[in-house]
Amino acid sequence: MTEQTVVLIKPDGMEKKVVGQIIDRFERAGLMLSGLKLVQFTQPILDVWYSHHKDKPFFQELSSQMMSCPIVAMVLSGEGAIQKVFDICGPTDPTEALVGTIRKDYGVDKPHNVVHRSDSVEAAKKEIGLIFTPSELF
Ligand code: CMP
Repeated sequence: MTEQTVVLIKPDGMEKKVVGQIIDRFERAGLMLSGLKLVQFTQPILDVWYSHHKDKPFFQELSSQMMSCPIVAMVLSGEGAIQKVFDICGPTDPTEALVGTIRKDYGVDKPHNVVHRSDSVEAAKKEIGLIFTPSELF
C-alpha cells in the first residue's frame, strides 16, 4: 500500500551536517520526497506532536532540544513507507540499532537519536497536518 510518513532531522542530526546523507538513504530505498522544508518547532506544536510523551520525565529536555534550532522536516511516500523508514532509521535507542541504520551510524543515545519518524499511518497524518499545508505537498 502506498503510504506517506514524516521524518524530522533532529537538532543533533543538523549539527552533524548529515542532512544530505540521510535523504540519500531514503531515496536509494526507492522512497519519494513529497514535501521538504526547514521548520522551527514551538512548544504548542510539540505539546501536540509528543502528546503521548507529555507526562514522561524527559519531555522538557526533549522539547528544549527540539526547539534549539530549525530542523529539516520531510514527507516520504512509497509502498510500505512507514516500515521502510522504520527499518532505515532503526529503533529509538541507537545503542540497540543495527549497523547501517541511521540511528546506529549517526546517533548516540535516546535523546540524541538523529531522526524522528512516524510510528503509524495515523501518526503520520497527525504530524503532516501539524507542519505541512496541502500546497506544500506533491
Ligand atoms: P522520537 O522518535 O523523536 O520520539 C520521542 C523521542 O523522545 C525519541 O525519539 C527520543 O529522542 C526521546 N526519548 C524516548 N525515550 C527516551 C528516554 N527514555 N529518555 C530520553 N529521551 C527519550
